[in-house]
Amino acid sequence: MSKTQKKFPLGIICLSALGLYFLSKKSIETFKIVNQYLFAKELNLYQRYKGGSALITGSTSGLGKEYAMQFAKRGFNIVQVARNDEKLENTKNEILEANSKIKVHNIQFDFDQPYTEEAYSGLKSELENLDDVSVLVNNVGAMSPGKFDSMDLIQANTMIQVNCIPQLFFTRTLLPKMIQRANSDKRCAILNLSSVATDTKAPSMGVYSATKVYNKNLSDVLDKEVNDKNIDVLCVQPGPTVSNMIKVLGPCIIYPKDHVSSVLSHLGQYRSTYGHYKHMVYISLIRYQWFKSYYQRNKKALTKLQGKP
Ligand SMILES: NC(=O)c1ccc[n+]([C@@H]2O[C@H](COP(=O)([O-])OP(=O)(O)OC[C@H]3O[C@@H](n4cnc5c(N)ncnc54)[C@H](OP(=O)(O)O)[C@@H]3O)[C@@H](O)[C@H]2O)c1
Repeated sequence: MSKTQKKFPLGIICLSALGLYFLSKKSIETFKIVNQYLFAKELNLYQRYKGGSALITGSTSGLGKEYAMQFAKRGFNIVQVARNDEKLENTKNEILEANSKIKVHNIQFDFDQPYTEEAYSGLKSELENLDDVSVLVNNVGAMSPGKFDSMDLIQANTMIQVNCIPQLFFTRTLLPKMIQRANSDKRCAILNLSSVATDTKAPSMGVYSATKVYNKNLSDVLDKEVNDKNIDVLCVQPGPTVSNMIKVLGPCIIYPKDHVSSVLSHLGQYRSTYGHYKHMVYISLIRYQWFKSYYQRNKKALTKLQGKP
């Protein structure tokens, strides 16, 4: 056998092995995704976290309200934090209608202000007095689109405050007690609302998507810090979902109820989720650019979405 004949099969074998490796890797990834989004079964969350209270920020509309309703239906007491007393009271009544056996505690706070110890001291002592918080849903968020050449810097600053400070503040304030709870064999959970906007990077969404990258990174690092402490951290990256600000429906726009049910079926088993399978499909299409022609055809409907979270 000549020298070249010997080299040829070896090269082919190496290339085939490499191809096989990447193909298997992709197949395993795809299998895991299909399994997560189509076949994941919800754990018994009340049992897993041994009851306690679910604290939800921004609970008076949209996704936050649905998280409050669904945790209440599963038997958790609810602590809700939002800025409007009347809306808090109405939501409390709706939650109690869904499950009259639980307790609902309201905390009124407006996050549209810079963080200072003084401004947040009242909220901090309310949180420190809470008993048995087992689940924290860092949900509150705001969205004001704007291109760089014309954006309103005051609005952009408000959005940064509302989207970033509460997640940090609530986690920092409640985590020590949650770790204590988890140490006494009562597991806890922290859900952090980010967005598909981290990946879509659409025009006008620069500041919003940057705050959502902040939410995601904070969640990922928190997970690394507490994953040996009996605390489940889940980063949630929804796609377009009907809420206070989004009032259109489309093939990839879903209702909060469907979003939250899917997320709860991933809680305790995964570290990140887009929630509903439609949002997984949505982000995959955008990522691989297969969405381009659809995007062009439906520009009008999608433009409407650009004002939404
Ligand atoms: N909807 C979507 O398509 C979508 C997609 C991806 C990610 N998300 C994320 O999901 C989360 C919830 O969004 P959403 O669509 O459900 O929003 P939403 O319907 O506007 O609800 C936001 C909630 O936060 C409260 N809130 C807003 N600003 C506040 C402030 N300054 N102080 C205190 N409370 C305040 C609102 O209270 P009021 O009722 O008084 O306004 C409401 O309870 C956000 O983090 C958002 O980024 C949403």
